[in-house]
Amino acid sequence: KIPVIIDCDPGTDDTIALIMALASDKLDVKAITTVAGNQTAEKTAVNGLKIVSFLDKSVPVARGAEKPIMRPLVTAGHVHGESGMAHVELPEAKIEYLSTKAWDLFYEMSIKNDEKIHLITLGPLSNVAIALMKYPTLKNGISRITMMGGSIGYGNDTPAAEYNIFADPEAAKIVFESGIPITMVGLDCTHKAWLTKNEIESMGDSSKQNGVWLAKEMMQHIHEFASRFNFEGAIMHDPSAIAAAIDPTLIQTEDYFVTVETKGDYTTGKTVVDTMRVTGKKPNTQVATEMDRERFVDLLRGLIKSYEI
Ligand code: BDR
Ligand code: CA
Repeated sequence: KIPVIIDCDPGTDDTIALIMALASDKLDVKAITTVAGNQTAEKTAVNGLKIVSFLDKSVPVARGAEKPIMRPLVTAGHVHGESGMAHVELPEAKIEYLSTKAWDLFYEMSIKNDEKIHLITLGPLSNVAIALMKYPTLKNGISRITMMGGSIGYGNDTPAAEYNIFADPEAAKIVFESGIPITMVGLDCTHKAWLTKNEIESMGDSSKQNGVWLAKEMMQHIHEFASRFNFEGAIMHDPSAIAAAIDPTLIQTEDYFVTVETKGDYTTGKTVVDTMRVTGKKPNTQVATEMDRERFVDLLRGLIKSYEI
């Protein structure tokens, strides 16, 4: 099993990603850390706790940054709803946050325990950047960062930038330039990981309030949201990063040097990917370009179905 920490901002698609990760026998989820992003730090933390508690898993949850490291917070409530979890109201959590902050937990669980951690990030990179600034040796304790974020070409939050990078570009730049091996699961890949209405239906029996029900509610919400823009498919951004960590053969990657624009008039938050190798800089990132959609859907279905009761 791969020891992982999942840093996230739940979040409708983060919720599906957590449901997957917590069911996988390939991942040993050591902790879940939350960050302000899709919603405020308070809401994403409460959602993280509620999800773990609802799924009856014993995984610690720690809170992180209240805002991006140098900018005010831009949430995505128009996509994920007022609570961050669309229309779903989960019961109050039966567990509490750790008193340790996300960045201290990264350090304690990797460097102090002498166990390299694979970090999966599904939100803005504020927590990871704070950790790298606070603990210069932390990079030796992280085997890889699999990140949902960025893209080679277009953006989804601005014409140039994907949301997770746009929300905290300075943090993302620190992470890309840290020297830690990165797999960037960006829009080039996640836009190939969509679900049809029938596929959502096929995820399992959701007649009881279980993980299948929660995943399907989120998927349906994402599907409806996309159809408002005339796209008939629910794009699974964050679940793609979990899938890539579970089974790297699902994605295709190319090695490039990547950094982040932080000062553009129109392009702040854009991941600048040196596809033509004009900088002469050594590649620092495996950039995911393809997703094997059929196998992705099968993996997703298998994991979600394991919650059937
Ligand atoms: C990313 O932005 C967030 O709104 C989603 O949860 C996902 O992490 C997609 O651009
Ligand atoms: Ca997210």
